[in-house]
Amino acid sequence: MVFLQKFSIMISEKDFITSNYSRIETATFQWSAPSNIALVKYWGKKAKQIPANPSISFTLNNCKTITKLLVSKKENNKHFSFDLLFKGKPKEDFKPKIQKFLERIEIYCPFLKEYHLTIDTENTFPHSSGIASSASGMAALAMTIMSLEKELNPFISDDFFYQKASFLARLGSGSACRSIKGEVVIWGNHLETKNSSDLFGMEFSDIHPNFKNYQDTILLVDKGEKQVSSTVGHELMHNHPYAEKRFNQAHENLSKIKTILSNGNITEFIKIVESEALTLHAMMMTSMPYFILMKPNTLEIINKIWKFRSETEIPVCFTLDAGANVHVLYPENGKEKVLEFIKNELVGNCQNGQYICDQIGTGAKSI
Ligand code: DP6
Repeated sequence: MVFLQKFSIMISEKDFITSNYSRIETATFQWSAPSNIALVKYWGKKAKQIPANPSISFTLNNCKTITKLLVSKKENNKHFSFDLLFKGKPKEDFKPKIQKFLERIEIYCPFLKEYHLTIDTENTFPHSSGIASSASGMAALAMTIMSLEKELNPFISDDFFYQKASFLARLGSGSACRSIKGEVVIWGNHLETKNSSDLFGMEFSDIHPNFKNYQDTILLVDKGEKQVSSTVGHELMHNHPYAEKRFNQAHENLSKIKTILSNGNITEFIKIVESEALTLHAMMMTSMPYFILMKPNTLEIINKIWKFRSETEIPVCFTLDAGANVHVLYPENGKEKVLEFIKNELVGNCQNGQYICDQIGTGAKSI
């Protein structure tokens, strides 16, 4: 009889618990981490930030959060103590989210309670642009915390450093675990992806040159507060009538898009990416209660992209995240013509004519 053995070692949550560490008086760490855009979407989760299905994303380059963490040793280590600043000024309304995050990661980073933390953060993209800053924000914060851990325990390996950073970022916001590395990251158990994990993101590196410097121009359609947050949206996938089918489809689409990213077939890439975007929004429209995050201009833009693509044969496509903004994806060699098209035809559908030019990037950087 032949037994198939799995040789990869399964990493579990307890592998990220740190118990051996030294102490320091004070130190400062600074990192930038980018946003990311999912190609196969994460929508639905279980307890402890475990995704209901695996996802894959392009890491972005220009839209990022820069976070500085200053730690100073304190006497009492019973409670977390931290100040949260946005561009150097106190930002009280972000504090509950950070408090919750620190409590979630306490068991993995027990050293944090021994310090007073000053977290100073800023984004390179406009604050109310409707671009989620939680992915880049949580990723940047996780990186600074890992730098502190490395200072206290210099023997940790690079692999552990980045894996745990992604693990911590996930506990802050699911999609944040895909913002640590680049250019393409897979998060979530996927049978056909060796070493894939629900606990952290992993780099997918077998990428065809057609996707090199792939462009993402983000059209800011609606910068207002969303009526339904991602957190609520994820929850509505519990008891959703199409949930099981959707989760299976994500597994299949991930298998397909991995092949496509490796063989460079942009026509097939477009089919998966646009279908994933519309499926995400279809899940929202078929939740109970149901909701719509797209705006009339979102649809206008989609139709114009389809028309432009069929007339010019330039392989430009769109994707959406949990909002009305449109991410326009296209190869670098189409840049000039697509930007001209955006300026001539799509800017009128953007709020105050605003859009952001970005492209695939390589992940978090120490500053
Ligand atoms: C539609 O990562 O923002 O952008 O884990 O609750 O923080 P939380 O959710 P979040 O969800 C992102 C959803 C999405 C799709 C994706 O990025 O995969």
